[in-house]
Amino acid sequence: MNWERELAQKAAMINAALDRYLPPASQYPPKIHEAMRYSLFAGGKRLRGALVLAVAELLYMEPKRVLPVAASLEMIHTYSLIHDDLPAMDDDDYRRGKPTCHRVFGEAVAILAGDALLTLAFQTLSGLKEEGFDAGLIVKIVEEVSRAAGTEGLIGGQVVDLESEGIQVVSDTLAYIHEHKTGALFRVAVRSGALLAGADALQLQALTDYAAAFGLAFQITDDILDITGDERELGKPVKSDLVKKKATYPAVFGIEQARSLAAEQVKKALHSLEMFGSRAEFLRETVRYLLHRKS
Ligand code: IPE
Ligand code: IPE
Ligand code: MG
Ligand code: MG
Ligand code: MG
Repeated sequence: MNWERELAQKAAMINAALDRYLPPASQYPPKIHEAMRYSLFAGGKRLRGALVLAVAELLYMEPKRVLPVAASLEMIHTYSLIHDDLPAMDDDDYRRGKPTCHRVFGEAVAILAGDALLTLAFQTLSGLKEEGFDAGLIVKIVEEVSRAAGTEGLIGGQVVDLESEGIQVVSDTLAYIHEHKTGALFRVAVRSGALLAGADALQLQALTDYAAAFGLAFQITDDILDITGDERELGKPVKSDLVKKKATYPAVFGIEQARSLAAEQVKKALHSLEMFGSRAEFLRETVRYLLHRKS
C-alpha cells in the first residue's frame, strides 16, 4: 500500500466536501466566509477526517457516506487551532505555513470564524440524514462529537493546558491535557467511523484503544517537534511551548524519554489492530508515521 497516496486521496475527498459545505467566500458578509476558508484551506494534513474514512472502509462501508463526519471534525479542529493561536491563548503568528487567522483578519473576526466553524460542524453532521443513517445512530454521533469538543474533551484539555503554564505538573495532569485537548478528537473520529459502519462491541473497543494510543502519541510528537522541528516544514512556530513554559512530555520527562513514550503508544496502537489483519494497513501506517513525521 502506498500510504502517502492513500492519505492524499482521502484528503482530496475531504477538501472537496469541505468546499461544498462552506458558504462561498463572496457570500454576504464576505469577511467571515473569507476568514473561515482562509484557515480551513491553509493546508492541514486532514488526519482526523482520514481516520473517519479509513475506519468506515475497514468495516466495509463506502467512505463517501461518512464524509459529513470527516468534514465536521476537520471544521472543529480548525476552529480549535484559530482560537489556540489567539493572543489570549498561545499567541502564535504562524499556522499551516501562513500568518494566523487573527494576524490577517483581526482578533474579532478570528474569534467569530472559530465560532462559525464550530457551529457549521454540527450543521454538517445533520447531513448524515441524506446518507440514509438511522436517526438514533445520528443522535449518538452528535452526542459523541459534542462531548469530544466540549469541556469533557478538547475544551477541558485546553483549559488545563493554559492553567499549567509555568508550573510543575504531575504526570496525571499531563496525561489529562493530552488525552483531552488532542486525544478526544482522534477518539471520536475513529469511533464515529466505527459506529456508523456498524462495528460490533469488540471491534469498537479495539478501535477505541487504537485511537487513545494514537492521540497520545500524536501530541507527544507534537511537543517534540516544538523543540526539534523545522519551522518551515512544520508550518508553525517552534519553541512556542518553551516560551510559554507549557506542560509538555519533553518538559516533564526529557526528550529521549518522551520519544520512547511515544514509541510505546505506537506499539500499543498496533497491538489493538491485530484482529483486523491486513485490512487495517492504512491505520497501521498512519500511527507508524507519527514517529518520523516532520509536520
Ligand atoms: C495540530 O494538529 C494541533 C494539535 C492537536 C497538536 P495537526 O498537526 O493535525 O494540524 P494540521 O491540521 O495538520 O494543521
Ligand atoms: C493544540 O495543542 C491542541 C488544540 C488546538 C486543541 P498545541 O497548542 O500544542 O497545538 P499547536 O502546537 O499550536 O498546533
Ligand atoms: Mg495550545
Ligand atoms: Mg498552540
Ligand atoms: Mg504544539
